Amino acid sequence: MTSKATFDMEDKFMAPFFVKQRVSIEKGDGIHVWDEEGNRYIDFTSGWGVTCIGHGQKVIREALYEQAGKIIQNPNSGLTYSPARASLLSLLREILPPNLTGVFFANSGAEANDASIKLARKVTNRMDVVSTLQSFHGRTISTASATGQASHRDKFNPLMPNFRFIPFGDLDALEEILDENVAAMILEPVQGEGGVRVPSDDYLVETERLCKKNGSLLIVDEIQTGFCRTGPMFITGALGVNVDFLTMAKGIAGGFPFAAFSMSEQVVKNLDLGDHGGTYCGNPLGCAVAHAVIKYLMDHNISDNVERMGRFALDMMGQWKAQYHKVVDVRGKGLLLLVEFEDEDTAVRVSDECFARRLFVRQTHGTGIRIFPALNINEGELEEGLTIFREAVEVIMDKNWPDPS
Ligand SMILES: Cc1ncc(COP(=O)(O)O)c(C=O)c1O
Repeated sequence: MTSKATFDMEDKFMAPFFVKQRVSIEKGDGIHVWDEEGNRYIDFTSGWGVTCIGHGQKVIREALYEQAGKIIQNPNSGLTYSPARASLLSLLREILPPNLTGVFFANSGAEANDASIKLARKVTNRMDVVSTLQSFHGRTISTASATGQASHRDKFNPLMPNFRFIPFGDLDALEEILDENVAAMILEPVQGEGGVRVPSDDYLVETERLCKKNGSLLIVDEIQTGFCRTGPMFITGALGVNVDFLTMAKGIAGGFPFAAFSMSEQVVKNLDLGDHGGTYCGNPLGCAVAHAVIKYLMDHNISDNVERMGRFALDMMGQWKAQYHKVVDVRGKGLLLLVEFEDEDTAVRVSDECFARRLFVRQTHGTGIRIFPALNINEGELEEGLTIFREAVEVIMDKNWPDPS
């Protein structure tokens, strides 16, 4: 096929949910991808935080090939045992906070959150779920109901009842809203889609304390932040926060669709046979790939690389705030970073200019542009992409918005 034939086919037969960038990607290697005409691009989105150890990664290819050669799906699915699943569980046990003693699998982040909400209601025999404004938890009907952004919710009314919202980072509001009807609080340790909002260090610790005091469970959605995206394997683990549910997806299998959620002892002992399930949950192929990815993260000390590269990027980006009056903020943690512009129009134009210069970034929450490259990126690669980004900002500002001073 040529790019044109691909565009024509997708435009004609695919449901029109996306405004697409006019490029057809054929292959990738590390932080680079190539279109059908052989043009090279830099990917600073890692497929929305998914290809955490780069495109075309050898350890993923080998795990896929080896496991596919053995078995992809068990007879009777999860009703039979699998050595690939047991190996992954043993690795997850090493990296998960120690209070989380039960794991189950899913195919996407939304499914992992959906299951956690469902099970939290069952375990507490309460109905209400508290979530935060600007949060993002998925696109199923329950996770859209838990999402604190009107654009993802309001068109689908009536949503599921019993979801209540408070501002992110506001402990007074949390204390006020918690009552005997609240089954659980769901939150991201750093809001990703909501504009890379990093709360104060004590926010999660205090949230755990308030939830416990109220007999409500804490569901922490580490779908975007997990697997070293911000430095540590999990933010909750690094802070010593004892959550009741920790949900995982995206980076867990480096691009292969896979997800999981882990639960505290208190939750596990209140669950019964048949409370949850799913045809593909814990399929051997996904387990083998997730095992290979997590082992790579551990063996290559990716956590350290993320912390070093995150500091390097923030140092470079930090200067833009002083240099360009349209850049109003630069923030993030590890390799989950965002440049915030004065207005949405600038963010769109900069993002388009980056694309014209063959750099993929992600416009987020109107005025922001999110930068979240592969976690094994090196300094030279990071510098190359950030230089393109800076040049894009300069071009847009020169063309359209001379500094008023
Ligand atoms: C924090 C968070 N939760 C949940 C999801 C939904 O995950 P998925 O798209 O795999 O369903 C996302 C996706 O962006 C996310 O960032």
